[in-house]
Amino acid sequence: MTSSNLTNKSNWTNISKPIIGLAPMDGITDAAFREIADKYGKPDVLFTEFVPAEGIAHGATRLFRSLQRHPTKTPIVAQLFGKTPKAFYESAKIVCKLGFDGVDINMGCPDNNIYKKGGGAKLISEPALAQEIIKAAKQGVDGRVPVTVKTRTGIDKPITSEWISALLEAEPDAITLHGRTLAQMYRGHADWEQIALGASLAKGTKTKFLGNGDVESMQEAREKTKTYDVDGVLIGRAALGNPWIFGDHMPTQDERFAVMIEHCRYFIKYRTGLKLFPMRKHLAWYVQKFDGAAKMRDALMHIETVEDVEKVIASFRPPKLDK
Ligand SMILES: Cc1cc2nc3c(=O)[nH]c(=O)nc-3n(C[C@H](O)[C@H](O)[C@H](O)COP(=O)(O)O)c2cc1C
Repeated sequence: MTSSNLTNKSNWTNISKPIIGLAPMDGITDAAFREIADKYGKPDVLFTEFVPAEGIAHGATRLFRSLQRHPTKTPIVAQLFGKTPKAFYESAKIVCKLGFDGVDINMGCPDNNIYKKGGGAKLISEPALAQEIIKAAKQGVDGRVPVTVKTRTGIDKPITSEWISALLEAEPDAITLHGRTLAQMYRGHADWEQIALGASLAKGTKTKFLGNGDVESMQEAREKTKTYDVDGVLIGRAALGNPWIFGDHMPTQDERFAVMIEHCRYFIKYRTGLKLFPMRKHLAWYVQKFDGAAKMRDALMHIETVEDVEKVIASFRPPKLDK
């Protein structure tokens, strides 16, 4: 099945170049953050947090929380990790049924637990298994949505040439390469020359190629697309507390405060009954670079409800002067 006979509403890998998307981030790109990023930044594509293929295949209901979706025309790609081709086949089917616009396979996660179990970046050392997994996921989606891979340049040292060549043999619809090895974790700089090398291997194949790592603005994303000849870029950490990054709008402080509250409301919408503890980190990311920001971040570390957030914000807003 080739990309051209996909039947889903939008084959995101065919969006015109450059494709600029929100990278998958565990504990961050939940339904609430995706909705906020979509509304205020409008990236071309949104990725979920990673979810275990094996757990989804076995119907572990708890995991389906990460696969909630907001109504949108923006493609949302579900990212799966694991090591069992059969589980990828089953979970890819399920993800399609849930209405996702793509299945992305995580072959880059440096987490030790996932590595020890054979998933994430461990697959870089098992190219034959990685190919089987891609093929199983493609059978699972049966041409309805694209199957893509997100990975790193190597384990201890970059082996981009052999690794990307092996992936290309299995014909994923796109590969996103984070320009670091597993050993680097998030240290040092992403090596965009390695990304360019991967992109050159994908040229002339059915596979689109995206770069990832250390991109801090849309301008930089567009420049990198040209300089390193990639089809697109995924932005991760620079979107923390900054869903506007994908657009050209610079928010005022009041707009930031309003979106902080809205983001909390979305969190509650998707996670009914939960306190806002997981939102504290997001709120701290929104509150940067103004007089009193550090104090406000401290105060936000104690919030539990939307009302608490509103009170903290009200107490830090400069009083309106009577005329
Ligand atoms: C908190 C956090 C969680 C992440 N979770 C995932 C994940 O679930 N799946 C994945 O493929 N990459 C994950 N990543 C990696 C990012 O998608 C991205 O590759 C990396 O942060 C480099 O891009 P950046 O410099 O734009 O942040 C995560 C990164 C961070 C910081």
